[in-house]
Amino acid sequence: MAEDPVADFDINKSLSMIFATPLVVHDWPESDAFNREFAELVLTKEKKLARKDVVRSNAGGWQSPGNLMQWPEPCIETFRQRIEKLTFNLLHVLLRGDSSNRSFKLLVDAWANINRSGDYNVAHTHPNCMWSGCYYVTPGNPDPNVTWNGLIELFDPREAANYVQVNNTILDARTLIENVPGRMLFWPSWVRHMVHPYVGDGERISVAFNVNVIEDRS
Ligand SMILES: [Fe+2]
Repeated sequence: MAEDPVADFDINKSLSMIFATPLVVHDWPESDAFNREFAELVLTKEKKLARKDVVRSNAGGWQSPGNLMQWPEPCIETFRQRIEKLTFNLLHVLLRGDSSNRSFKLLVDAWANINRSGDYNVAHTHPNCMWSGCYYVTPGNPDPNVTWNGLIELFDPREAANYVQVNNTILDARTLIENVPGRMLFWPSWVRHMVHPYVGDGERISVAFNVNVIEDRS
Protein backbone atom coordinates (compact mmCIF):
# COMPACT_ATOMS: atom_id res chain seq x y z
CA MET A 1 0.00 0.00 0.00
CA ALA A 2 1.38 3.39 -1.02
CA GLU A 3 2.38 5.73 1.75
CA ASP A 4 -0.01 8.67 2.38
CA PRO A 5 2.15 11.71 1.43
CA VAL A 6 0.08 14.04 3.64
CA ALA A 7 0.26 11.99 6.82
CA ASP A 8 2.72 12.92 9.56
CA PHE A 9 3.76 16.15 7.87
CA ASP A 10 2.57 19.66 8.67
CA ILE A 11 3.30 21.95 5.73
CA ASN A 12 1.92 24.91 7.71
CA LYS A 13 5.16 24.97 9.72
CA SER A 14 7.04 25.77 6.52
CA LEU A 15 4.45 27.89 4.75
CA SER A 16 3.84 31.63 4.52
CA MET A 17 1.48 33.45 2.18
CA ILE A 18 3.42 36.29 0.56
CA PHE A 19 2.15 39.38 -1.31
CA ALA A 20 -0.95 39.69 0.83
CA THR A 21 -3.40 42.47 -0.08
CA PRO A 22 -5.50 43.88 2.76
CA LEU A 23 -9.24 44.05 2.21
CA VAL A 24 -11.61 45.27 4.92
CA VAL A 25 -15.29 44.36 4.68
CA HIS A 26 -17.02 45.93 7.66
CA ASP A 27 -20.75 45.98 8.35
CA TRP A 28 -21.61 49.02 10.46
CA PRO A 29 -24.45 48.13 12.84
CA GLU A 30 -27.62 50.16 13.34
CA SER A 31 -27.29 51.96 10.03
CA ASP A 32 -30.91 52.02 8.81
CA ALA A 33 -31.72 55.61 9.80
CA PHE A 34 -28.26 56.79 8.71
CA ASN A 35 -28.67 55.11 5.31
CA ARG A 36 -32.13 56.63 4.82
CA GLU A 37 -30.76 60.11 5.56
CA PHE A 38 -27.75 59.50 3.32
CA ALA A 39 -29.89 58.19 0.42
CA GLU A 40 -32.23 61.17 0.65
CA LEU A 41 -29.29 63.55 0.67
CA VAL A 42 -27.64 61.96 -2.38
CA LEU A 43 -30.91 61.91 -4.37
CA THR A 44 -31.54 65.55 -3.46
CA LYS A 45 -28.03 66.50 -4.55
CA GLU A 46 -28.55 64.70 -7.85
CA LYS A 47 -31.67 66.79 -8.56
CA LYS A 48 -30.06 70.01 -7.38
CA LEU A 49 -26.78 69.63 -9.20
CA ALA A 50 -28.46 68.04 -12.23
CA ARG A 51 -25.13 67.57 -13.88
CA LYS A 52 -23.88 64.81 -16.10
CA ASP A 53 -20.42 66.23 -16.61
CA VAL A 54 -18.75 64.37 -13.76
CA VAL A 55 -17.37 61.19 -15.25
CA ARG A 56 -14.98 59.14 -13.17
CA SER A 57 -15.56 55.45 -13.67
CA ASN A 58 -19.26 55.47 -14.42
CA ALA A 59 -20.87 54.18 -17.58
CA GLY A 60 -24.28 55.75 -17.17
CA GLY A 61 -25.45 56.63 -13.71
CA TRP A 62 -24.62 59.75 -11.77
CA GLN A 63 -21.54 60.66 -9.77
CA SER A 64 -21.41 63.69 -7.53
CA PRO A 65 -18.48 66.09 -7.42
CA GLY A 66 -15.66 64.89 -5.17
CA ASN A 67 -16.40 67.37 -2.39
CA LEU A 68 -18.88 65.18 -0.49
CA MET A 69 -16.84 65.38 2.72
CA GLN A 70 -17.48 69.15 2.76
CA TRP A 71 -21.27 68.79 2.61
CA PRO A 72 -22.71 70.24 5.84
CA GLU A 73 -25.35 67.60 6.61
CA PRO A 74 -24.90 65.61 9.88
CA CYS A 75 -24.69 62.20 8.17
CA ILE A 76 -21.44 63.30 6.51
CA GLU A 77 -19.78 63.68 9.92
CA THR A 78 -20.86 60.14 10.85
CA PHE A 79 -19.48 58.95 7.53
CA ARG A 80 -16.16 60.67 8.25
CA GLN A 81 -15.93 59.03 11.67
CA ARG A 82 -16.54 55.61 10.15
CA ILE A 83 -13.78 56.06 7.57
CA GLU A 84 -11.38 57.34 10.23
CA LYS A 85 -12.13 54.42 12.52
CA LEU A 86 -11.36 51.83 9.86
CA THR A 87 -8.26 53.67 8.63
CA PHE A 88 -6.66 54.04 12.04
CA ASN A 89 -7.50 50.51 13.09
CA LEU A 90 -6.01 49.10 9.90
CA LEU A 91 -2.94 51.30 10.32
CA HIS A 92 -2.53 49.97 13.86
CA VAL A 93 -2.35 46.43 12.48
CA LEU A 94 0.09 47.31 9.70
CA LEU A 95 2.63 49.41 11.59
CA ARG A 96 5.80 47.63 12.68
CA GLY A 97 7.37 48.03 16.11
CA ASP A 98 6.38 50.53 18.76
CA SER A 99 4.14 53.11 17.13
CA SER A 100 2.80 54.68 20.31
CA ASN A 101 4.61 57.98 19.70
CA ARG A 102 3.67 58.28 16.04
CA SER A 103 0.71 60.35 14.92
CA PHE A 104 -1.11 60.62 11.63
CA LYS A 105 -3.75 62.74 10.02
CA LEU A 106 -6.06 61.75 7.19
CA LEU A 107 -7.03 63.50 4.00
CA VAL A 108 -10.32 62.10 2.75
CA ASP A 109 -12.31 62.85 -0.35
CA ALA A 110 -15.50 61.14 -1.40
CA TRP A 111 -18.21 61.13 -4.01
CA ALA A 112 -21.65 59.59 -4.31
CA ASN A 113 -22.70 57.17 -7.03
CA ILE A 114 -26.22 56.43 -8.26
CA ASN A 115 -26.61 53.52 -10.65
CA ARG A 116 -29.97 52.75 -12.23
CA SER A 117 -30.85 49.85 -14.49
CA GLY A 118 -28.13 49.35 -17.10
CA ASP A 119 -25.49 51.47 -15.33
CA TYR A 120 -22.09 50.14 -14.33
CA ASN A 121 -18.55 51.25 -13.51
CA VAL A 122 -15.65 50.32 -15.74
CA ALA A 123 -12.46 48.75 -14.39
CA HIS A 124 -10.27 51.39 -12.76
CA THR A 125 -7.91 52.26 -9.94
CA HIS A 126 -7.85 55.37 -7.74
CA PRO A 127 -4.55 57.22 -8.30
CA ASN A 128 -2.85 59.67 -5.93
CA CYS A 129 -4.00 58.16 -2.65
CA MET A 130 -3.19 55.32 -0.25
CA TRP A 131 -6.51 53.65 0.46
CA SER A 132 -9.78 53.52 -1.41
CA GLY A 133 -13.15 52.17 -0.50
CA CYS A 134 -16.87 52.43 -0.76
CA TYR A 135 -19.91 52.43 1.45
CA TYR A 136 -23.23 50.91 0.48
CA VAL A 137 -26.26 53.07 1.15
CA THR A 138 -28.93 51.09 -0.70
CA PRO A 139 -28.64 48.14 -3.10
CA GLY A 140 -31.82 49.10 -4.99
CA ASN A 141 -33.95 46.18 -6.07
CA PRO A 142 -31.66 44.04 -8.23
CA ASP A 143 -33.15 41.35 -10.48
CA PRO A 144 -32.05 38.08 -8.80
CA ASN A 145 -31.89 36.33 -12.19
CA VAL A 146 -28.99 38.51 -13.35
CA THR A 147 -25.52 37.18 -12.47
CA TRP A 148 -23.34 39.49 -10.34
CA ASN A 149 -26.05 42.13 -10.55
CA GLY A 150 -24.53 45.43 -9.38
CA LEU A 151 -21.70 43.70 -7.55
CA ILE A 152 -18.21 45.11 -7.19
CA GLU A 153 -15.34 42.90 -8.31
CA LEU A 154 -11.74 43.43 -7.19
CA PHE A 155 -9.03 42.08 -9.49
CA ASP A 156 -5.87 40.30 -8.46
CA PRO A 157 -3.02 42.69 -9.37
CA ARG A 158 -0.62 39.83 -10.08
CA GLU A 159 -1.02 39.28 -13.80
CA ALA A 160 -0.10 35.60 -13.67
CA ALA A 161 -1.75 34.69 -10.39
CA ASN A 162 -4.25 32.47 -12.17
CA TYR A 163 -1.54 30.33 -13.79
CA VAL A 164 -2.62 27.44 -11.62
CA GLN A 165 -3.14 24.07 -13.24
CA VAL A 166 -5.40 22.68 -10.51
CA ASN A 167 -8.98 23.97 -10.55
CA ASN A 168 -10.78 25.39 -7.55
CA THR A 169 -7.92 26.40 -5.27
CA ILE A 170 -7.70 29.43 -3.01
CA LEU A 171 -5.12 30.85 -5.44
CA ASP A 172 -7.47 31.60 -8.31
CA ALA A 173 -10.61 32.83 -6.57
CA ARG A 174 -12.54 35.83 -7.86
CA THR A 175 -13.45 38.53 -5.37
CA LEU A 176 -17.04 39.71 -5.72
CA ILE A 177 -18.68 41.39 -2.74
CA GLU A 178 -22.36 41.77 -1.92
CA ASN A 179 -23.50 45.38 -1.58
CA VAL A 180 -25.21 45.15 1.78
CA PRO A 181 -26.50 48.48 3.20
CA GLY A 182 -24.16 49.66 5.95
CA ARG A 183 -21.20 47.73 4.53
CA MET A 184 -17.92 49.58 4.09
CA LEU A 185 -15.09 48.23 1.95
CA PHE A 186 -11.50 49.35 2.17
CA TRP A 187 -8.53 48.33 -0.02
CA PRO A 188 -5.20 49.70 -1.31
CA SER A 189 -5.92 52.29 -3.96
CA TRP A 190 -3.90 50.46 -6.61
CA VAL A 191 -6.31 47.51 -6.67
CA ARG A 192 -8.21 47.57 -9.96
CA HIS A 193 -11.96 47.08 -9.57
CA MET A 194 -15.24 47.43 -11.43
CA VAL A 195 -18.97 47.36 -10.71
CA HIS A 196 -21.00 44.92 -12.76
CA PRO A 197 -24.14 46.30 -14.47
CA TYR A 198 -27.08 46.95 -12.21
CA VAL A 199 -30.37 45.58 -13.53
CA GLY A 200 -33.50 46.33 -11.55
CA ASP A 201 -35.86 48.97 -10.20
CA GLY A 202 -34.88 52.00 -8.18
CA GLU A 203 -31.40 53.16 -7.37
CA ARG A 204 -28.21 51.45 -6.30
CA ILE A 205 -26.53 54.14 -4.17
CA SER A 206 -22.96 53.92 -2.94
CA VAL A 207 -20.36 56.41 -1.77
CA ALA A 208 -16.74 55.96 -2.86
CA PHE A 209 -13.80 57.50 -1.05
CA ASN A 210 -10.04 57.96 -1.09
CA VAL A 211 -7.82 58.30 1.96
CA ASN A 212 -4.32 59.67 2.22
CA VAL A 213 -2.45 59.06 5.47
CA ILE A 214 -0.02 61.82 6.41
CA GLU A 215 2.45 61.23 9.24
CA ASP A 216 3.02 64.14 11.59
CA ARG A 217 6.81 64.56 11.71
CA SER A 218 6.89 67.85 13.62
FE1 LIG B 1 -13.64 52.93 -7.72
